[in-house]
Amino acid sequence: MISFTVGDFKKMKGMGEVLGREILKTAIKKALVIGLVGQLGTGKTTFVQGLARGLGIKQRIISPSFVIIRKYKFPRKSRFSYFYHIDCYRILTPKEMLELDFKKILEENSVIAIEWAEKIKKILPGHTLWMNFDYIDKNKRKVTIIYE
Ligand SMILES: Nc1ncnc2c1ncn2[C@@H]1O[C@H](COP(=O)(O)OP(=O)(O)OP(=O)(O)O)[C@@H](O)[C@H]1O
Ligand SMILES: [Mg+2]
Repeated sequence: MISFTVGDFKKMKGMGEVLGREILKTAIKKALVIGLVGQLGTGKTTFVQGLARGLGIKQRIISPSFVIIRKYKFPRKSRFSYFYHIDCYRILTPKEMLELDFKKILEENSVIAIEWAEKIKKILPGHTLWMNFDYIDKNKRKVTIIYE
């Protein structure tokens, strides 16, 4: 577990971007799931915007609150199939996610960032990278990374 303070939203995007670039350097052969946990407005979507940039995704990242799952293509030939941005805010049970064909998404070799992921923890892989977002003040957030 590692905890640090992120001073403003630009730094949050920057942190996501660094992680995205690092992910591209790894030799991961299965889905890489990042579970984002934190109250409203703590910076989960902001982080994902930076992450997508670091992964080389060219499209603009729009919050998936209403559609729940957004799917983006990697630009160049990449070992990853897709980048998924998922928001479980309106999901009540893991079963609802399974009804959206979530199992199939997990079987692909994709990068999957999930906001409010604690709601579907039961159906997430054991190797999920967990990130907690806490509000400190108007501009500061505490981010805790947990890899069990
Ligand atoms: N250090 C920071 N990191 C991230 N966002 C910050 C920070 N400081 C201020 N903010 C602001 O806080 C808000 C975070 O919104 P964001 O949509 O990223 O949150 P969220 O966790 O995805 O919320 P939700 O649960 O509603 O989806 C933005 O308006 C952003 O500009
Ligand atoms: Mg959000």
